[in-house]
Amino acid sequence: MLLHGPNYPPDTVAGFSQRGSSLFSLLFWILGLIVFVSPFLRDPAQPTPSTVEDTGRLASEIDIPFREEAGYFQEDYEVDLLTPLQEASEAWFGFDGERLAASGLIERERLEPGQRAYVAFCSGCHGIEGDGGGPAARHLEPRPRNFRSGIFKFTSTDTGTAPTRKDIFQTITRGLSGASMPDFRLLSEETRWDLVEYVRYLAIRGSFEQLALQFAWDEEELPDLEETADIILGRWSPQAARPVYPATPEPPMTEETVARGKEIFASSSGGSCSSCHGEGGRGDGPAAADFLDDWGYPIVPRDLTTGVFRAGSESADLYRSIVTGINGTPMPAYGGSIDPEDIWCIVHFIQSLKEKE
Ligand code: HEC
Ligand code: HEC
Repeated sequence: MLLHGPNYPPDTVAGFSQRGSSLFSLLFWILGLIVFVSPFLRDPAQPTPSTVEDTGRLASEIDIPFREEAGYFQEDYEVDLLTPLQEASEAWFGFDGERLAASGLIERERLEPGQRAYVAFCSGCHGIEGDGGGPAARHLEPRPRNFRSGIFKFTSTDTGTAPTRKDIFQTITRGLSGASMPDFRLLSEETRWDLVEYVRYLAIRGSFEQLALQFAWDEEELPDLEETADIILGRWSPQAARPVYPATPEPPMTEETVARGKEIFASSSGGSCSSCHGEGGRGDGPAAADFLDDWGYPIVPRDLTTGVFRAGSESADLYRSIVTGINGTPMPAYGGSIDPEDIWCIVHFIQSLKEKE
């Protein structure tokens, strides 16, 4: 009989009649089922509770789900923000939005296949709406990215600017070592480009809504949504997000380059890297405690001795992280303050730290 749990075969449970036992195990299974599936049943259109006790979904006060925050705004100022915002969002950033098409920022024909692949492979962690709140998110450290802030960490572009398509493609293809973000190199290249487009779409649309909400709080009224859209479109324009290339080619790694790198790594006129990463690069510098990232979650400087780097461990990857910094985290950008030759030396020093297994 299907409804009986394996531990309660009807004939062996003393004290229950056959019928009482069936009823008992039926109730038992229904209760179990409810407890198990309830976290997945939430209507995505409903506000999501934000406390850890409710769902374990969020640990941060900054990373509040958009609809919930819009709800607070409405309560405080009695201004309906959500309806006009959703309409504007749909008109400009919906799949068929004319603004989006005219902007040239998104290849629209990739959105539908991109969405299908996203729902299948990514939403479990990143959430259907891209807010980083998928059902698996609560178990993960670091958290899956909330794309709706528009902030990407591992980019080849100047600090604080949007990523290139290739940056996102690389993240999807290679995954992020040391974090739970898997690599998706088994998906066809076409599908990965579709996903890039859909992630851009979630980020552009999400950051429009977030910025409008921020303006609404600042101005205590409905902001000019046209202006808000222009700001976001500008941020994502190809002119704003240009990749940074090494200014000089990598020199061969020698004892001298490693020694020079070590010196700059520790010097306060150089990188002061050691203040966060520690002299030996173990992530235990004096300034390392109590950092939060831009989403409000605790973050620690990386242990550089493991040889595992999220954005890749090739010289060019490390060079890029040092020059452009890591957006949304305390890791600064050094492109303007350390000479390219010296940055290569730091790269060699970091590579020399890798401990043999
Ligand atoms: C098992 C959970 C998981 C799955 C599945 C997953 N990701 Fe991630 N992803 C993460 C985590 C965790 C991070 C954040 C890592 C960090 O902050 O260092 C992340 C970060 C990212 C980033 C941000 C990189 C940056 O520069 O900030 C992108 C883009 C991304 N994922 C895309 C995807 C796509 C597309 C898929 C589906 C094809 C996907 N992810 C599936 C966990 C996941
Ligand atoms: C204010 C603190 C701080 C300073 C100063 C700092 N970092 Fe970092 N660094 C961080 C944090 C925090 C992370 C982790 C970011 C993350 O988890 O995504 C990090 C990550 C890194 C990574 C890992 C990149 C990857 O792909 O995983 C490298 C490499 C790195 N830092 C090198 C440096 C170097 C070299 C310097 C000096 C030129 C430096 N850092 C200075 C805080 C700092």
